[in-house]
Amino acid sequence: MSDQTTTKDRVLTGDTPTGRLHLGHWVGSVENRVSMQRDYECYFLLANMHAFTTRAEKPGEIRQDTIEIVKDWLSAGIDPEVSRIVLQTEVPAISEMTWYFAMLTGYGRLMRNPTIKTEIEVKGLGDSYSFGFLMYAIGQIADILAFTPRYVPVGEDQVPHIELCREAARRFNQLYCGVDPKTPDVDSVAAGGVFPIPEALVGRVSRLVGVDGVNKMSKSLGNAIFLSDTPKQVQKKVNKIFTGRQSPTEPGDPSNALFQFVDAFMDDQERVAELKRRYEKGENIGDGEIKKELGERINVMLEPMRERRAPYDAPGGDDLVIDIIREGTKRANATAEETLWRAKEAMKLDFYRRELR
Ligand code: TRP
Repeated sequence: MSDQTTTKDRVLTGDTPTGRLHLGHWVGSVENRVSMQRDYECYFLLANMHAFTTRAEKPGEIRQDTIEIVKDWLSAGIDPEVSRIVLQTEVPAISEMTWYFAMLTGYGRLMRNPTIKTEIEVKGLGDSYSFGFLMYAIGQIADILAFTPRYVPVGEDQVPHIELCREAARRFNQLYCGVDPKTPDVDSVAAGGVFPIPEALVGRVSRLVGVDGVNKMSKSLGNAIFLSDTPKQVQKKVNKIFTGRQSPTEPGDPSNALFQFVDAFMDDQERVAELKRRYEKGENIGDGEIKKELGERINVMLEPMRERRAPYDAPGGDDLVIDIIREGTKRANATAEETLWRAKEAMKLDFYRRELR
């Protein structure tokens, strides 16, 4: 399998290693990534450098989280024989391109990015965030464009970052490749641009509610069901999904938190319709009954993930993970070096060509 000879369109996406993946990640993006592997040349980036932007004092944790997220990916069905799992800190072209894109992105524009604003608020960063924290948004432009992808499958919160990336790609193509500003995005490469204008792809459920029934599912809010939870843990958490309904005969709201889960994870549409109908009327249907069925269904979905995970959780599993990262990153570097060279040619930085060994 030679990456040089494939003609498939590319896909790139990544995660900052901050903890285990949960069902919100699955329906928001990971499921999409798994299904795109056969049709696209896929790159899945471990954004471990980004983890340092808010946790620089915790290198040990970041390292472990990096390994753990690979286990989550592999168990979810990312196939390292087909796709490339890429370690950001071993792709020098990304760091270099970050500099160049920093020059093409306005400071004010960056500060208006709603994801950055929300993060500053939610993480309580006040005005004490590092320069590197802002830099990560530029780094993310480089993460993406180093692989010249067509699609970037992400959760909804990442869409503003993809928009910044699209602006930077357009600007580069116009400044250094002579692409006319009126050129439609889809024709940017045909018109001589180095970079395609990539598109964000958001999963089928952009915001999965947590088991508290109120907030978006999130590790830090303690309302998450993890891909790595045991069958018992899953059922226990499902049983906690809050609806406020008191009895099987009380008419219920078929769009409440419980039914958001039902819609996201139960695929028998007739059964779902029947449950909704009876729930709405309070036709002797308890929340507990639905939760049992839902929990079983989620566990059926997670079971193959548990099987795929087992060898990586066994002794020596971390070494297997590191081998997979090494191999994927090697293949990724071939691609990223090629992109960087083409960018340098456009920028008249092509004094001579280097070899990464
Ligand atoms: N910022 C993303 C997150 O926190 C992770 C990420 C880093 C990413 N680089 C990327 C996502 C490139 C898509 C493309 O989830």
